[in-house]
Amino acid sequence: MQEKVISGFSKLDKKAKINWLSSHFLDGDPAVEEQLASFWHQDAALQQVLDGFSENTLSNFPLPFGIAPNFKINGQMYAVPMVIEESSVVAAACSAAKFWLPLSGFHTEVIDTVKLGQLHFRWGGSQERWEALFPELEKMLRLETTHLTANMEKRGGGIKDIKWLRKPEIGADYFQLLVSFQTCDSMGANFINSILEQFGASLKQWAATANGLNQEERQLEVIMAILSNYTPECVVKAWVECEMADMEKTLRTGDDVRHFCHKFETAVNIAYHDPYRAVTHNKGIFNGIDAVVLATANDFRAIEACGHAYAARDGQYRSLSRCTIDGDHFRFELEIPLALGTVVGLTKLHPLAKLSLQILGQPSANELMQVIAAPGLAQNFGALRSLVTTGIQAGHMKMHLQNILIHFGATPAQMEEARAYFEHHTVSFTAVREFLAQYNAVQ
Ligand code: MEV
Repeated sequence: MQEKVISGFSKLDKKAKINWLSSHFLDGDPAVEEQLASFWHQDAALQQVLDGFSENTLSNFPLPFGIAPNFKINGQMYAVPMVIEESSVVAAACSAAKFWLPLSGFHTEVIDTVKLGQLHFRWGGSQERWEALFPELEKMLRLETTHLTANMEKRGGGIKDIKWLRKPEIGADYFQLLVSFQTCDSMGANFINSILEQFGASLKQWAATANGLNQEERQLEVIMAILSNYTPECVVKAWVECEMADMEKTLRTGDDVRHFCHKFETAVNIAYHDPYRAVTHNKGIFNGIDAVVLATANDFRAIEACGHAYAARDGQYRSLSRCTIDGDHFRFELEIPLALGTVVGLTKLHPLAKLSLQILGQPSANELMQVIAAPGLAQNFGALRSLVTTGIQAGHMKMHLQNILIHFGATPAQMEEARAYFEHHTVSFTAVREFLAQYNAVQ
């Protein structure tokens, strides 16, 4: 066990790291180095950029970078880049985009773009004293962060509001500053965290040096300063709508369109009221959201964490989308918080993220929120459409079959035969293996 512990691993060069890994965890398999090296980028300078994104990098881990064309969003056409490993997601996005194309496409609207951060601290004074001191303290905090906010203010952003609050359940001396920001086209994490840390330092300095404070009021300890990934006021809405009869041409399921729409509405209602269904329903939405978030090198963990918290904002976890049928009018809508950036960080460093933004026409963060919400809604529409008509497995199994055939190294002729055969047979790993063995036997 002890021999598997290492100090200074990060200081080893890449080859030495691989050798150590191989000799301690992979029986010294000489193929490991070759395998990892086969995924290095041929452009060494670019590989160095990729290595720099994280620590202890040994290689790259490729994921498919795909495109979903035909997205009409607010009357403008987009080809949406998507990075995702799950089969059927891009196909479903494409199909939903095409479905809504003749029905005016997707509509979107940014509701607000407020980002948040918190300074958590203990203070020995009373709430009344804090309340009385706060207006002056707020001025001081704003003044002492002007070096950090000046540039953002020039772009129209900056610190919007500073609130203070207490939570006695955390501690009798617990205080919090809840700060709201506008961060324009940047996601704003560094901007927000720097300001909050400066707030902490300024408050500490104030408590230690200000005139007229008693002994208790000199006690101020910063616990932590960090942005909040919960941004319930950085929200975008996307919707599709039409008269039900107008869906007739695009639906093509053979189903009565009204019956389809009402069944669809019930499926969304189930997810609104039942958390077990809501999680899967929202997962489908995030299939579309995360894929574009990743393609533009935004932070999908933050987006997911925030989206799920938002889904539970009234105390019960619910669907992020809603469906209404009013007379003959069908409307399907998604409301989701998306805190995104388009100007700094990985979005500007990762060559494929740069390309994604180029494909999307160099969107502002505001526009990107809208372009990402649409595939989220499209995914949800595609999944529900399958679920309430053919079932999800028919489409999934087609893609699954393709992956299994690739796994077995099937030839194009074998693939064609297999696709025809499995139209009427259940796909499984064993069934495909047996099919190929039989195929080879008779050839
Ligand atoms: C699979 O990745 C996503 C779905 O389960 C979503 C849903 O059930 O709505 C198909």
